[in-house]
Order: sequence, then structure tokens, then C-alpha cells
Amino acid sequence: MNETPKYYLTTPIYYPSDKLHIGHTYCTVATDALARYRRLQGYDVMFLTGTDEHGQKIEDKAKEAGVTPKEFVDQIVEGARGVKDLWKLMNISNDRFIRTTDDYHVQSIQRIFKKMYENGDIYKGTYKGKYCKPCESFWTESQLKDGKCPDCGREVQDAEEEAYFFRLSKYADRVQHLLEDTDFLEPRSRVNEMVNNFIKPGLEDLCVSRTSFTWGVPVDFDPGHVVYVWVDALFNYTTALGFLNGQYNDYDKYWPADVHIVGKEIVRFHSIIWPAMLMSMGMPLPKKVFGHGWLLLDGGKMSKSKGNVVDPYILAEHFGVDALRFFLMRTFPFGSDGNFSNELLIQTINTDLANDLGNLLSRTTAMVQKYFGGTLPAGCAAWAAPEAADEDLKAQAAALRGKYEEAMDAFAPHKALEEVFKVIQRANKYIDETAPWALAKDLEHNGARLAHVLYNLLEATRICGILLTPFMPESMDKLFAQTGVPAGGRTWESAAAWGVLPETAAVTKGENLFPRVDVEQALQELEQAAEEAKKAALPALETEPLLEEKVDFDTFCKSDLRVVKVKDCQAVKKSNKLLKFTLDDGTGTDRQILSGIARYYKPEELIGKTLAAIVNLPTRKMMGQESQGMLLSAVHTEKGEERLNLIMLDDQIPAGAKLC
Ligand code: ME8
Repeated sequence: MNETPKYYLTTPIYYPSDKLHIGHTYCTVATDALARYRRLQGYDVMFLTGTDEHGQKIEDKAKEAGVTPKEFVDQIVEGARGVKDLWKLMNISNDRFIRTTDDYHVQSIQRIFKKMYENGDIYKGTYKGKYCKPCESFWTESQLKDGKCPDCGREVQDAEEEAYFFRLSKYADRVQHLLEDTDFLEPRSRVNEMVNNFIKPGLEDLCVSRTSFTWGVPVDFDPGHVVYVWVDALFNYTTALGFLNGQYNDYDKYWPADVHIVGKEIVRFHSIIWPAMLMSMGMPLPKKVFGHGWLLLDGGKMSKSKGNVVDPYILAEHFGVDALRFFLMRTFPFGSDGNFSNELLIQTINTDLANDLGNLLSRTTAMVQKYFGGTLPAGCAAWAAPEAADEDLKAQAAALRGKYEEAMDAFAPHKALEEVFKVIQRANKYIDETAPWALAKDLEHNGARLAHVLYNLLEATRICGILLTPFMPESMDKLFAQTGVPAGGRTWESAAAWGVLPETAAVTKGENLFPRVDVEQALQELEQAAEEAKKAALPALETEPLLEEKVDFDTFCKSDLRVVKVKDCQAVKKSNKLLKFTLDDGTGTDRQILSGIARYYKPEELIGKTLAAIVNLPTRKMMGQESQGMLLSAVHTEKGEERLNLIMLDDQIPAGAKLC
């Protein structure tokens, strides 16, 4: 008996220093679609994702937030709207989730580090070089770009400390051969980049421990050292299977991985450092690393520090999870960069989902309902003399699975979807060509032909539905329910067969799966949602820091602070800021003060109030009127908005009383 073929695929493990954005979602949705595709084909799939939780950046961020590093990452990984919540929302079907702070992983990393130390590939030396904190990357002088980090373009720091090194140089030839002479790394264009930029200039040994911070896996045989975060992170792909730990025992079953899906900026780690370390450990190499492109916003990479991230929660809640998943996979060629925009998202939903797929589904089900009460007559699958349009539709649908498979196997989901949509468009054209509404005018003569046409449409829809399942699993379940497709008609095998749908399947016109989006309204709502999210992320309450500089007592006493009563208050004409107060200051002569608080108070609500004022400021003119002093108020910021409260005093206190 043949064993079920295995397929092991991974996403990068995410760095939980901030909430995840649409770029991270893109990578995980793509890997999820590939995993679902392999399951559909009958593979025994292991799909791993997780979080990479150590390193100085997390330690620093936790300190800033006043919590421990573990509390900090727990909140982002497990907390509300955190990493796990996001993957649940996006319907990610990972079989396992690893956190590098999990005990079993830490134990394995210590054993792995020791093993490479014992085999002589890790040795002790002094690290002198440059370190990019945001990227957690060491660089040599020659690797910097204009003196800055070649990955992110930010400033690097000098670093010098006792450290362990990995003999990366020893593996340079073998890694070069792996890259140049096999199809280990794809797309192919990334091979030249790796070889020319990193291997040919000379691979230097890699610093793999740090002593300047503690948030990492401790080197158990040398206290004070923690394992470099990338060594810790890369081996997750094996520790999550149980390599050198007792947590799982799937290592022999699934390793080596069939593919690591990674973003282009971490291809270097996955295609040079990772294979070299595996070679040192004597472990089999993964079969492939695929480096996808970035989703750009206004031409640049999204990053929290640039403040240009797109929140996947907002998009999924607005347009639906499947529409978002579909858009990400349909629009951007997987190996290249792509420009994200809300307009493009809405356009894709309206064109492909509402117009093409949505119309095909709703027109077909509506016609089966209208003309046949929801069930086609027996015998409708066959037609003695098929017309050219019938043949063409069938031929295109029959050829679809092969083209789709070729594209999916080449990590080109956008192409696979393009092929599916060609058939959907063909089916819509078939409706126009066969004009069912005209056939329906004479059901007695044309009823059988009409039933056959509708059956063909249901079959084309079924085949496309199967192949769209990895991308829009929930919607395709609904599509199958509406078109009466039984479980046997949803399989990979049946995607290459015509006539699988039972002729008398019950067809129902259900909810509109892909409603059209009103562009203007949606853009406005998105802007508002983004604004609200930005506000929600602001600190609830902020007050100005206390002044460091001291003021001597005598100077303070020179300020004449008095209790005043508001006799009258009016808005100053032509000013939207100023209010004019007529005040009793206890002297018997009215005092006039102008105050820029019209935004916070209506004049009439202040009449009669007891306030505090400084009365010995030089007289100032504002909008042509004199102001003899200043009213005291308290200011703070709430959710980014400035708030002001006048200091109101007990009405029992007489005007003119001195404040001291
Ligand atoms: O790199 N477009 O984690 P990470 C597309 N912890 N992909 C994007 C993107 C964008 N705008 N922004 C980020 C790490 N990504 C390491 C991985 S693996 C052993 C350790 C992708 O959270 C990015 O390219 O910074 C990377 O593949 C992934 O998100 C995780 O990034």
C-alpha cells in the first residue's frame, strides 16, 4: 500500500515587537493557501507558523512599556487582536504554532548550540562590528550601504564584546553550490543577489552569541551569553517537530521541509546561514526556500516606525476574510513587490468577485430556481449534439486543473487564480451565447436544452469552486451548498472530471456571497476606521512632564495670584478662540481678561463662576482689546486631544483673596 505523501511547509516566525500588519498577513495567507492546496491534493500536511520572541529589541520595548519581556510578548501573541487572534480571524489552518519562548524549544536550542560547539563549528572570540538593532543583524563594514544597515537603511551601532562565532566561512563553497546548481532557492533572481552580494565578497564567520543583554536562550555552558536570535529562530523549523526535545516526535516524519516561505529581506538567513548550520549539524537540508516580495505602501515598505502600516483587522471586518485573502493572492505576483491600496482592493472585489464569480453564481442559481424550481430534470447532463459553446466551455474547464496545478507548484498563486478566472469569464460568456432566458420562452420545445445549459454552468462553477477553496474556504463551502455539490464533487480528483454533479442536485439561491462595494463610501469608512484605530492606540491620558529647572521662592512670590468672579463673559467678534471676561478682582474696579478658551466653554456657562487669575502681567492687546492678566487653567491630553479646564474655586471665597 502506498503511504500518504507528506508535505511540510512553514511561514517565518513573526517578531512580536508590534502588532502584525497586512504584509505579515500576506505571507501567512499565501502559505495557508499552499497548505490547503496540498491537503486538497491528498498530502499529509504539516503547516507551521509561530513567533520569534527573543532579542534586544523586545527587551527594550518591554522596558519602555514597564513590563517583563515575557509579559510583553504574551500580550502581542496571545492577547486580544494579537497574533493568534489574527490567524484565527484569517482562517489560517496551521497545524502547529511555535513560540521560541516555549520550554521545549529553549532546551533544543541549548543542545543544538552545544553540539555545534563540540563539533568545532562554534568557537569563542571577540566581536567587533556593526549591529542593526531593529533588524537584530550583525554586519561587517563592507556589507553596510552608505554606512547604514543594508536591509532597512537605518543607523547601525558599533559593537564589541566577547562572543561565540559560527564557522560560516567553512561552508561557503557548499552553500554556493547549493544556490547555483540546485533549485533550492526561488525565485531564481534571488540566487544572484545572494551569491554576488554575500558569498563572492567572502563569507565571514558569524557572531552567534551576545553578552550585552539577557533576553534570549542562555548558553548553558557559558553563563552570561545568550544565543543569537537568528540561530534560535531558524531552528524552530525543526524543534517544532520535536528535534532534540520530547514535546513532539514528528521530526523523522516531516523533516526536511518541502518549503520555507519567507520575505525577501530574510532570504539571506534562510539560504546561506540556515543551510550552513544544518550542514554543521549533519541534518538534511530543506528542499526549497521561496522568497516572496513585499507589499508596499506609497512605494515603501510598511513598518510601524514609519507609521504606514495597514491593519488587516480593519480590512477583514470591512470586506470579509475571504475577499481579503483572495485579493492578496490574486493581485500581487508572489515573487515580486506590489503596491497595496484600498482602491485596488475594492476594484478587485468588484471586478472578480462581485462581477465575475458573484454574477455567475447568482445568475445560474436564480435560473435553476426560476425555470425548474431549484432541481434540474434527470437526463440534463447529456446532450446529443453539443454546440461549439458547450464544447469550448467543457474543454476549458477540463484543462483548468492542470494549468492551476502547474502555477501552484511554481509558487505562483496569482497565476493559478488568473486561470480560474478565465474559466469563470468563459462561463459568463456562455450564458450570453446560449441566452437561457430566450430558451425559457418556449419550455416545451427548449426545456431540455435549457436544463443542459444550466447543468453545464453548474459544473463549470463547481470546478472553479474546488480550485478556489484553498483561497476562500468559507465562501466556497457556501457556494457548494447553494449549488448542491455533495462532498464527492468537491475533491481534487473531481476537479478534473465533468459530469460529477448529480443531475437533480438541489440548487438554492442563497445569500449574495460577494456583494458589490460602493467605492466612495468604503474609502470614507476605511479612512474613518483607520483614524479611530490610530486614536485608540494613543495613550489614554498624557500630562506634561514636570519641569526639571527650579524656580526660587522669591521669584515665585512675585506672581500675584488672585481669586476673581466672572461678572460677564462674551465671545470676541471675529475670533473663534477668544472669550472676553469682565471680572471682579476685589478692588472695586472691573478687570478685563481675554482668554483663548472659546473651544472649551460657552460664555454664558461661566458667568458667576469663581476663578483664579494672575493679575500682575503686563497688559496685552489681542484683537484690538486689552487683557489685564491671565486666567489659570489645567491642561492635559486625552487620546491625542488637548483638554482644558479652568481652575474653579469655592464660591464662598471672596474676590481679591490672594492665592499663595
Ligand atoms: O523576519 N510585505 O520576522 P518579522 C510582505 N522573526 N511581507 C512582509 C512585509 C510586507 N510589507 N512586512 C513583513 C522576521 N513581511 C523573523 C523571521 S524566521 C526563522 C524568523 C514579512 O515579523 C517578512 O518579509 O519581521 C518576513 O518574511 C515576515 O513578514 C516576518 O517578519
